[in-house]
Amino acid sequence: MRLILLGAPGAGKGTQAAFICRKYNIPQISTGDMLRAAVKAGTPLGLEAKAVMASGALVSDDLIINLVKERIALSDCASGFLFDGFPRTIPQADAMRAAGVKLDYVLEIDVPFADIIERMSGRRSHPASGRIYHVKFNPPKVEGKDDETGEDLIQRDDDLEETVRKRLDVYSQQTRPLVDYYAAWAEAEPGVAPKYRAISGVGGVDEITQRALAALGD
Ligand code: AP5
Ligand code: ZN
Repeated sequence: MRLILLGAPGAGKGTQAAFICRKYNIPQISTGDMLRAAVKAGTPLGLEAKAVMASGALVSDDLIINLVKERIALSDCASGFLFDGFPRTIPQADAMRAAGVKLDYVLEIDVPFADIIERMSGRRSHPASGRIYHVKFNPPKVEGKDDETGEDLIQRDDDLEETVRKRLDVYSQQTRPLVDYYAAWAEAEPGVAPKYRAISGVGGVDEITQRALAALGD
């Protein structure tokens, strides 16, 4: 299974990716997680990405495309992968198409912007594992601690309300056009293009996982 999870910041891509990847036994390729790891490690990529990410803007297409091409060349991607937060511009999508990267599905998770601010302000993460919580909607067993390791949870630097609003603007302008891009391609070249599916991301986490798996044919 090779798929793209498409959706606004805070739509629940990372949350659902964990379940879908477990089900299909495929790696989760989250460009956001990869960039945050690079920032933390202080690599040249991280130094370049840090300020851009904190502002809510997008990192340059060239950097991201190279990062993803290197990642999908690794052996664990041979039988499939899930893209979370990539592609998020038309040039990124074109680069995958030009490179002949075969995809089975594009799954859009749709959540109204009005719900997103609350989701982001309550988000807590465990960066080492990628586990994601919410203080109200998906709380850890012990406040502020990861369920598996007991380590501290963090709040992301880009989850300030003002930055979230900027990220939603960036999504509308640069990423939302991918919905039409993939829907049009699926219609024009069925069998070649990935199948396009959209689900509502409003409801409980388990309910949305069921919707996602049903949309992927299970
Ligand atoms: P990235 O890390 O990709 O962030 P994003 O797309 O903004 O998405 P989020 O991770 O914020 O949200 P999510 O959809 O994963 O939601 P989550 O599951 O966490 O990118 C960060 C930055 O990196 C970008 O701004 C950019 O600068 C750069 N970048 C990354 N990729 C790039 C690319 N390809 N090109 C250029 N730049 C790139 O859920 C959110 C919260 O809601 C959590 O607290 C969760 O517990 C809660 N929640 C989840 N589901 C539900 C539910 N059903 N009900 C209630 N709450 C829920
Ligand atoms: Zn995410």
